[in-house]
Amino acid sequence: MKNFLIVEDDELATPSVGPWAKTKYQIIYDYMVLFSSGMKKHWANRIYIDIYAGAGKAKIEKTNEILYSSPMLALKVDDPFDKYIFCEKDKKLYQALEQRIKNEHFEESHVIFNGDCNEIADTILKEIPQHSRKNNVLSFCFVDPFSLKIEFETIKKLSTKFMDFLVLLAFGMDGKRNITHYVKDNNKRIDKFLGLEDWRSRWEIANKKHINLVEFLAKEFTQQMVNLGYLEEAIDNFIAIHSDERNLPLYYLAFYSRNKIGYDFWNKVKMRNTDPTLFD
Ligand SMILES: C[S@@+](CC[C@H](N)C(=O)[O-])C[C@H]1O[C@@H](n2cnc3c(N)ncnc32)[C@H](O)[C@@H]1O
Repeated sequence: MKNFLIVEDDELATPSVGPWAKTKYQIIYDYMVLFSSGMKKHWANRIYIDIYAGAGKAKIEKTNEILYSSPMLALKVDDPFDKYIFCEKDKKLYQALEQRIKNEHFEESHVIFNGDCNEIADTILKEIPQHSRKNNVLSFCFVDPFSLKIEFETIKKLSTKFMDFLVLLAFGMDGKRNITHYVKDNNKRIDKFLGLEDWRSRWEIANKKHINLVEFLAKEFTQQMVNLGYLEEAIDNFIAIHSDERNLPLYYLAFYSRNKIGYDFWNKVKMRNTDPTLFD
């Protein structure tokens, strides 16, 4: 893999991230390289969508190393995607991303939205070219929030296109810590995350059987994806990312495709980054 992980400071906004982000960037870059090159012959249009895009670079806490983050990594694959669609809510980060793309990748077809991806999902959809037999379109969407603040409705809308998803499930960072809040009837976070309102009764049963919350939520979320036509094997192919200090799983990268070929690529990436301690 090319060493895109340590780059120069350009003095644009660069958010701080934990050291474990390096592993995340390695994995997503690895996958994007395989996907974009592997699908080039078969699809006239390969679209990259990053709905929690960030600024394009990030700084590792303590070491101050600067890394390219997901949007810039996607732009740097060997066979660039045919179109890039980015969405970032924070104005400063959006402006930094816009400038970085201008500086390094202006020639690539791209659009950047400054907004809430859950509010502008329809606008994002309109940017995906129309699919036809002669001009087929396959999209890859990276969903990388800080917490479980994903809204399943947004994923459902985007999934009306041919689209694979890589979803960062921030269970360790968010779900476990806040569970006592989330299971309260008046808290809607998990309802929105799962796109369901009837999960509490199943959670009560699961809890009595000593099934842990992470496993429960992973299965419920994946079942929702299966209901949209994504393959069940997703659940067996999560990659756990740990914090360096206490080796606790912080989050999981969950890959969802409706096609076996997607899992061939993902499994290659997974084999290079195996972690047997899922759901501990
Ligand atoms: C964990 S960071 C991920 C950044 C980037 N993908 C990376 O590789 O580092 C999440 C980003 O999503 C942005 N964000 C949070 N909520 C959002 C929303 N509803 N719509 C779009 N962006 C959002 C945050 O400002 C932040 O930059």
